[in-house]
Amino acid sequence: MDARPRNVWVDGRILPADGPHLSVFDRAFQLGDGIFETLRARSGHVTELPQHLARLHRSAHGLELALPADADERLRTGIADLLAAEGLDGAVGDASIRITISRGAYRVRGVLPRDEAVPVTMVIQAWPVPATPASHLERGLHLIASRVRRDPTSPLATLKTTSRAEYVYARLEARRAGGDDALFLTIHDHLSESTSANLFIVRVAADGVQELATPSLDCAILPGTTRSWLLAWAPRVGLRPVEGLLGTADLTAANEAFLCSSVAGILPVTRFDGAPIGDGLPGAWTLRARADREAMIRDVDGATP
Ligand SMILES: Cc1ncc(COP(=O)(O)O)c(C=O)c1O
Repeated sequence: MDARPRNVWVDGRILPADGPHLSVFDRAFQLGDGIFETLRARSGHVTELPQHLARLHRSAHGLELALPADADERLRTGIADLLAAEGLDGAVGDASIRITISRGAYRVRGVLPRDEAVPVTMVIQAWPVPATPASHLERGLHLIASRVRRDPTSPLATLKTTSRAEYVYARLEARRAGGDDALFLTIHDHLSESTSANLFIVRVAADGVQELATPSLDCAILPGTTRSWLLAWAPRVGLRPVEGLLGTADLTAANEAFLCSSVAGILPVTRFDGAPIGDGLPGAWTLRARADREAMIRDVDGATP
């Protein structure tokens, strides 16, 4: 069974995980009116914290959600305090962290937030990172196409908001179909992303060059921190990075495919809607990318405290 946190951090205080923390009036609970980030930490060092905080501010801006001026400092301190309280700051501590910020507890009804004086609610949670199931690395993930489509013209398409019903729906679709996760397509039939990760393929281009290709930011994707790291990693290892419009045929014709996120890392994808990708086994580039990314996370001196 997955480890259960003993504590949570709520608005500056460490509280027992099973206690009451939030008001029923909270708008993230009522309306999904909030934003979040998921991060990874090793021995108390948070990987790419500035990038995650920048994305949090971008999501806040997109939803006109006013963060306190000292939000970053409070979150940095809060993460350190919570990791210490959970015993996840030691030499072997490998943690996943979630920051959630709600617009706050509004007593007045309605969709429009009419009381600008209500402060946001800030929450941090932390869990030990469970070992990746061996089957995910040996067999790879099997994805199915979700019936939910993503609209790249939506101003919310690239924000990390707590309105996640479509993602939950897609994940349930995948489970019903016996898949590991669902892949969203855009309304224009382009590949987008999975319910919690960005997608990459490895292929040989017409000019014979090996490419690491991923849907562009025009494909209703979250601009992932791992995605950015991979696009910078590719030329260092001899792969040409490509961001573009990809279709399902590009995925099934690829030599390799993988999903990537801060918490799960890099995981091979070996089937899409039942069709094998490449030889149907996790690819060598995928496993190398995973190993290099994990090494970067373990190298706490190189990570951001
Ligand atoms: C929908 C979605 N796409 C992509 C990602 C990957 O982003 P990152 O690499 O910053 O973790 C996530 C991570 O949570 C996600 O939820």
